[in-house]
Amino acid sequence: MTAYSFKNKSAIITGAGTGIGYEIARQLALAGASVLLNDIEEELAVRAAEKIRQQGVACLPLSGDSSSLSVIARMVETAIQEFGRLDFAVANASITTFGNFLDYEPERFQRLLAVNLQGSFFLAQAAARQMVKQGSGGRILFMSSVTGHQAHPNLAAYGMTKAALEMLARSLGVELAPHGITVNAIAPGATLTERTVGSDLDYEAKWSRLIPTGSASTPEDIAHAALFLLSDSARQVNGQSLVVDGGWTAASPTPEE
Ligand SMILES: NC(=O)c1ccc[n+]([C@@H]2O[C@H](COP(=O)([O-])OP(=O)(O)OC[C@H]3O[C@@H](n4cnc5c(N)ncnc54)[C@H](O)[C@@H]3O)[C@@H](O)[C@H]2O)c1
Repeated sequence: MTAYSFKNKSAIITGAGTGIGYEIARQLALAGASVLLNDIEEELAVRAAEKIRQQGVACLPLSGDSSSLSVIARMVETAIQEFGRLDFAVANASITTFGNFLDYEPERFQRLLAVNLQGSFFLAQAAARQMVKQGSGGRILFMSSVTGHQAHPNLAAYGMTKAALEMLARSLGVELAPHGITVNAIAPGATLTERTVGSDLDYEAKWSRLIPTGSASTPEDIAHAALFLLSDSARQVNGQSLVVDGGWTAASPTPEE
């Protein structure tokens, strides 16, 4: 259940077949928004949208690589065709490639920049162009990470992209404000998703011990922050990054390997 109503609003969210993106899509749809759900994995996108629709709400899958300019164009066109307007763009898709700086290969770096930065930048541009044309404002949200604030072992390149997204939110918050569009970022800390829990069975216990609140975040925790930033209640929150990490960045301890 959500405290917000997004009736007659429409949203695009990338990388939403699972994890945080899926939960944001689900909560947005339950709050009344029409949601275009993107994922690079077609089966995941279709299944996720179907699961959300089963709750009696509007959600349409659109598969494709969110870093591709043609996929971005298709997302905006489809949202307009199907829902008639676009109010929210959530650039959630990212890849997390761990790697020692001294061995980090250019190919991995290029792919990281393409998905985390190019995809987010040009989704924001395409969405903002549409919002400006509509003339009724909008909201753009980037998905950062606490690794954009604190150095983290083997995440130099990833952390760099996340810090860049926060700067982009700040810059666009200023540039797009005259059009009634606000731009913010969320920086999640350790969050229990299929990817994180799947890659380390001890993930939840390990992080919960280190986080001041005593638990890692859930996708629901991150989605609640997203819905707030997309809502009218956040109309004066612009160009900001909201850290959702149970207080971890206050001290930033990392687990012993
Ligand atoms: N989970 C965490 O602990 C955590 C912490 C900090 C930040 N984040 C950020 O939150 C966001 C979501 O993280 P998550 O752990 O829920 O997701 P994830 O890494 O598990 O990926 C979610 C989905 O994105 C899709 N995807 C990957 N590349 C794509 C592309 N090029 N185009 C379209 N879809 C693509 C995947 O298929 C997957 O279904 C990411 O931006 C991530 O960097 C996550």
